[in-house]
Amino acid sequence: MPVISTPQAFNEDDLYVDLEAMFGHSLFLKCEGFNFAGSIKLKAAGEMIEAAERDGLLTKDSILIESSSGNLGVALSMIAASKGYRFLCVTDSRCNLSTRLLMEALGSQVHVITEPGESGFLGARIDHVRARVASDERYVWLNQYANPHNHLAHYRRTAPAIARQFPDLDVLFVGAGTTGTLMGCARYFREWHRPVHIVAVDSAGSVTFGGPTGRRMIPGLGTSVRPPLLDTSYVDEVIRVEEADTIRTCHHLARRGFLFGGSTGTVVSGAMNWLARHPGDSPTAVAIAPDLGERYLETIYQTNWVQDLYGDDVLPHQQPTTPAARTAPAPSPRATASSTAGR
Ligand SMILES: Cc1ncc(COP(=O)(O)O)c(C=O)c1O
Repeated sequence: MPVISTPQAFNEDDLYVDLEAMFGHSLFLKCEGFNFAGSIKLKAAGEMIEAAERDGLLTKDSILIESSSGNLGVALSMIAASKGYRFLCVTDSRCNLSTRLLMEALGSQVHVITEPGESGFLGARIDHVRARVASDERYVWLNQYANPHNHLAHYRRTAPAIARQFPDLDVLFVGAGTTGTLMGCARYFREWHRPVHIVAVDSAGSVTFGGPTGRRMIPGLGTSVRPPLLDTSYVDEVIRVEEADTIRTCHHLARRGFLFGGSTGTVVSGAMNWLARHPGDSPTAVAIAPDLGERYLETIYQTNWVQDLYGDDVLPHQQPTTPAARTAPAPSPRATASSTAGR
């Protein structure tokens, strides 16, 4: 029986969903949403705060500040509340309302950027953080985009947890935001006893792996500024997924009772597309699901929001909930492009 006295002390690290019956390809989905912060960002937040404490950067007068599309903000809010630090989260108008309310409920201050800068929303958020840090020396910016403890968290925890459960792992699908999860896992498996094909999954319109910037409405994956943590020499392949495919995949999972967040829809869509292109290989494949779906009820799971942004045909038919639905086909990703990064 786990008994805890701080919220960050609990994290379910060994839960996987077998997606074969739902999508027709074998894929084990590692669920990272079962902790009090509700996402994989608990690990990066904990590791970055502990490092800042060890280095003497954080004192009782410090004000933590961070740019986040939401989940890191929630994780930092939770740990800051637990440890007695003040925290200011700089986010933008794409941040889900429930995520913002969650941070405020945990005692954090939230600043919402409403206009993108020259480098998009992310650039505008970082400009705001820099201005605050320059204006008051109490601010401590952990900078998840460049902080090595972001990827170290996954090198030390996420990847070893997968390795323990899947000693024959062949291919790992990881969504790319700051690329902390991707780089931590990729570095770990590069040193492992057998080769693992590392596939990064990004949103179409993200500049992370090059290519033109485009509209992205689903937080979590993708960037408008290339993340400094990224080292593409550790990445074997990149898949880009259209947001419409993300939405379809999220709804397909939800209609089987699994309510996941947007980036899980992106990663699963990209992974299923990849697996469909490699028939006969039967690889042992794992994908990482960064969070759950409650934070997306007013966006991804809201019909009006979906139709306004992606048109009426994104979810063409209301999928039946009767047992007949079990035979309904999985959504087929339409415009998924892939490219290979050098190993
Ligand atoms: C829901 C969700 N998916 C994916 C990611 C991307 O993870 P990383 O920043 O480690 O690349 C994040 C990070 O914020 C997230 O919150």
